Amino acid sequence: MSTLSYIESNRERFLEELFQLLRIPSISADSAFAGDVRKCAESVAEFLTKAGAENVVLEETAGYPIVYGEKIIDPSLPTVLVYGHYDVQPSVPNELWHTPPFEPTIKDGKIYARGACDDKGQFFMHVKAFETMMQTQSLTCNVKFMIEGEEEVGSSNLGTYCRNNKEKLKADVILISDTGILANDIPSIDVGLRGLSYVEVEVTGPNIDLHSGVYGGAVANPINVLCTMIASLHDENRHITIPGFYDDVLEVSVEDRDSLARIPFDLEEYKKHLDIDDVLGEKGFSTIERTGIRPTLDVNGIWGGYIGEGAKTVLPSKAFAKISMRLVPNQSSDKITELFQKHFESIAPASVKVKVSPHHGGEPVLTPTNSVPFKAASLAMLDTFGVEPIATRGGGSIPIVALFEKELQTKTVLMGFGLDTDAIHSPNEHYGVFNYFKGIETIPRFFHHFAELNK
Ligand code: BES
Ligand code: MN
Ligand code: MN
Repeated sequence: MSTLSYIESNRERFLEELFQLLRIPSISADSAFAGDVRKCAESVAEFLTKAGAENVVLEETAGYPIVYGEKIIDPSLPTVLVYGHYDVQPSVPNELWHTPPFEPTIKDGKIYARGACDDKGQFFMHVKAFETMMQTQSLTCNVKFMIEGEEEVGSSNLGTYCRNNKEKLKADVILISDTGILANDIPSIDVGLRGLSYVEVEVTGPNIDLHSGVYGGAVANPINVLCTMIASLHDENRHITIPGFYDDVLEVSVEDRDSLARIPFDLEEYKKHLDIDDVLGEKGFSTIERTGIRPTLDVNGIWGGYIGEGAKTVLPSKAFAKISMRLVPNQSSDKITELFQKHFESIAPASVKVKVSPHHGGEPVLTPTNSVPFKAASLAMLDTFGVEPIATRGGGSIPIVALFEKELQTKTVLMGFGLDTDAIHSPNEHYGVFNYFKGIETIPRFFHHFAELNK
């Protein structure tokens, strides 16, 4: 039986099995879901075994387990290491979902659920593609699976695992589906990802919440101060004002900027989709450049004081914010965190105390376009979409990609199938049924071309 007819005749089951995974609320950030995250790992292991993988194990770490499995058909053939993550972002605010986040529902050809696209729907394509190749005797490479449960919280235990398992994880390429394409008729491959530096800040004024009339005007209000400090982090051109912030930013060549400018992009549609009258970003750069090749600084959350019903006249003792900085090649996450900390402390008035606590980070990456893995992915997408994919830059971060290169000296190819409009990390996350099956069809083509090109 051909791979295509195998996929066609197992369509309903391939969807139902994905739904089983999507029903497990594997939220890694919230310890209330610890049992579910573990349950999800067990379920992934079971699916891998059923698909034909051998030596399937839950590799224990200091955090959530990594699911490993493999199929070595011939040591002389090339080996593909598939990476993905079974953990998901929190679903809150739940009231904004049109259907419950952990009750997958198909509407207008899209699967709605937390994790539908990021990344359960995408890594599960590999499990089903693998099953397909096994059942149709068409597996042309050795395959190793490494599906982790801490990607959404910074993959902090994965580095150690890779360092301690170099031989076991040895591969000729790392294949990841955790990014997107430009449109369903415009395939693309991300050749860059941004890095990340994530910090939490705490500003303390008086040692206790005060009456805002009795003390207001005389004692620093930490929320007012925090807002002033945050506002000063960008200038009128939306440049970041932290001294040294841009020092290591790699200048992008005129040719590379030209090719970014040729990427099909409709600003009007972009604005319409987000219901905004205008975009806002760094002066001198296009929207595609602002998310692809430029670093950023964003407040992800800010809180403090009274936010309950009605009004309480209070001058709060503390204010907090969570701040992320997206980094581009050659910036370093640790260095940027340090620069932020020094600068943020230096701009605080004497009337408050400031504490900066670093969270996780990750390094930016650029992957080559003249490599055998890129060529294989390109040919695979040409086979199934009928057009050659465009090289793009992803704005998000997958910290493990730089780590893989450092610890395993192995290059990654980012063959994702999501869309920017899939609402990952947002309410009503979804993934196209088209995209799910397009992925399942394209992956065996990658294996085919990768084996051929390695001959
Ligand atoms: N799959 C995303 C990253 C992504 C999405 C890259 C779209 C390119 C295009 C991943 O799961 C993710 O969300 N990563 C986090 C980083 C992590 C350290 C929390 C991110 O980018 O915020
Ligand atoms: Mn992801
Ligand atoms: Mn994510």
